[in-house]
Amino acid sequence: MLRSRVLGTGSYVPEKVLTNAELESMVETSDDWISSRTGIRERRVAVEESTSDMAARAAKAALKESGVSPKDIDLIVVGTVTPEMAFPSTACAVQSQLGIRAGAAAFDVSAACSGFLYALDIADKYLKAGGVKKALVIGVDRFSQLLDWKDRSTCVLFGDGAGAVVLSAEKGAKGVLSCHIHADGKHWEMLYAKSGLQPSPFDKREAEPAAIRMNGNETFKIAVRTMGQAIKEVLDDTGIKPEDIALLIPHQANLRIINAIRERLDLPEDRVFTNLDKFGNTSAGSIPLALDEAAKQGRVKDGDIVLFVAFGGGLTWASAAIKW
Ligand code: COA
Repeated sequence: MLRSRVLGTGSYVPEKVLTNAELESMVETSDDWISSRTGIRERRVAVEESTSDMAARAAKAALKESGVSPKDIDLIVVGTVTPEMAFPSTACAVQSQLGIRAGAAAFDVSAACSGFLYALDIADKYLKAGGVKKALVIGVDRFSQLLDWKDRSTCVLFGDGAGAVVLSAEKGAKGVLSCHIHADGKHWEMLYAKSGLQPSPFDKREAEPAAIRMNGNETFKIAVRTMGQAIKEVLDDTGIKPEDIALLIPHQANLRIINAIRERLDLPEDRVFTNLDKFGNTSAGSIPLALDEAAKQGRVKDGDIVLFVAFGGGLTWASAAIKW
């Protein structure tokens, strides 16, 4: 049986750090409010780099670590909701920037903060089916462009960043064991951003700015519930028990959401990876950015079971288990 094995990970965050203290001078907020309600202390904000620049830099690092040549990539899937172009896709821009071979398939997936796991699920299915041998899966978002910087209830939560993995179809027990993706579009108003397209001269609808709107309290509750369900789904599917989980890498939105999930699973703190204190919620970038940092710190070892769970606008949610 073919499995999608991770051969390398990479990530990229912009250099510019925006601290909670700096946000105090932009909106009526405090470091204490932000860190106690969310766990976030600072985030990165892109200055020069576009979404595709960030994606390409993360992917380049993942390719380098994997030893796979750009000429051998058959598929590029990018999870993002902040592409700099309506088309072509961010995946096509990455293909061009990295010299990935002409003829490889390349496309983006829109699933907000669940974008990376959606992209992973799709790539996994192509790899298992045998048509694709090597795939590049990227999660990237540049939410600084999508924020209303006067809205304190959202602008303190997000940051910019990207992460990537190189997957290879290989025989054996290692690789993606299980992956699940879900959505419930009727709750779209909980968390959304308009696209920013210009109204045409014929438009009768009122123009709305392209900025994130969110019902934070409801989003919080649904996030805890759906991520709990998604973890149960992956455990039931694989027979993995909570005590078998070497590391849980959840979407990095809010430390209180992560702790609620950890408590439900009865996992000790050291088996749940967090880095949202440094990067905030980087949307589709969050899980692969955390994975790369965890791997570089030696927190993911050969043979480990690593679980992933995400939640985002759509509403969307997803989970995956990988044997490292
Ligand atoms: N600084 C200071 N005060 C703030 C603030 C900020 N940045 N943002 C909101 N407030 C105020 C509110 O206006 C409210 O004031 P009021 O009581 O006078 O009306 C008060 O803080 C409490 O707001 P509330 O929304 O009840 O706080 P909360 O404990 O629910 O925390 C969130 C708010 C946004 C941190 C929390 O709901 C959350 O994290 N939700 C999930 C959001 C998320 O992760 N979205 C992405 C999913 S992918």
